Amino acid sequence: MFISKSIPLCLLVLCLYHHSAIGASPLSHSCFSPENYTANSPYGANLNLLFNLLYTKVPPTGFALDSTGHGQNLVHGMALCRGDVSEKNCNTCVADAGKELRQRCAYSKGAVIWYDHCLLKYSDVSFFGQIDYATRFSMSNVREVDQNGTLFNEKVKELLSELSNEASDANPKLYATGELQLDTVTTLYGIAQCTRDLSGVNCKKCLDGAISELPNCCGAKLGGRVVGGSCNVGFELYPIVGT
Ligand SMILES: *[C@@H]1O[C@H](CO)[C@@H](O)[C@H](O)[C@H]1NC(C)=O
Ligand SMILES: *[C@@H]1O[C@H](CO)[C@@H](O)[C@H](O)[C@H]1NC(C)=O
Repeated sequence: MFISKSIPLCLLVLCLYHHSAIGASPLSHSCFSPENYTANSPYGANLNLLFNLLYTKVPPTGFALDSTGHGQNLVHGMALCRGDVSEKNCNTCVADAGKELRQRCAYSKGAVIWYDHCLLKYSDVSFFGQIDYATRFSMSNVREVDQNGTLFNEKVKELLSELSNEASDANPKLYATGELQLDTVTTLYGIAQCTRDLSGVNCKKCLDGAISELPNCCGAKLGGRVVGGSCNVGFELYPIVGT
């Protein structure tokens, strides 16, 4: 047994994690550009147009890229919904993300925001197809496994490495979920997803990089995620998707 009293613990974990999904609060954001645009500038107008385009284009497939404007006022943007999220929830998430980014990163020329259900990113610097190493963050459950943490970490790595291969190998959605039975009462659930502007090779590179961060943030924790502008991985002792 990796955890004792597994049922009350899972309920606690559910409460902690699902609170954010219901309230649709962002997990994190980053106003990464050192440059600002000014109020009523063409850049701001292009950004509005870009958000509107993404809001329309993303939900049917869960992913879109677009660019608006020209020269100094060119803006590149991208949004991705988690692979299982419905068209309706994807739409809501991308709309919320645009509104929040306008507030949290007002006048920043480049920014990204993450939710459980989606991410939205824009920049004046072209980023399509490139792995974003700059904006990664991690989250972990405060609780640790009761027993062999080394073994637990190995199981997490085993599951997520399998999902990394599955997501990046000729998989048009660059998305995979799966589970691993740890003992008779404990199941480990995992998720791996890349933004679909990446090649399969870069997706794998991004995911394997995220997996290699797990020991730093989330070793022997009951749940953890490494989330970036191009890919994310996560593990939990309850189903991650379908919420
Ligand atoms: C951009 O705006 C932020 C927040 O208002 C400010 O801290 C920063 O100095 C500005 N950067 C430039 C290059 O003007
Ligand atoms: C914990 O798991 C590791 C890796 O499987 C193993 O080598 C080690 O002997 C285990 N330790 C205990 C105390 O069971």
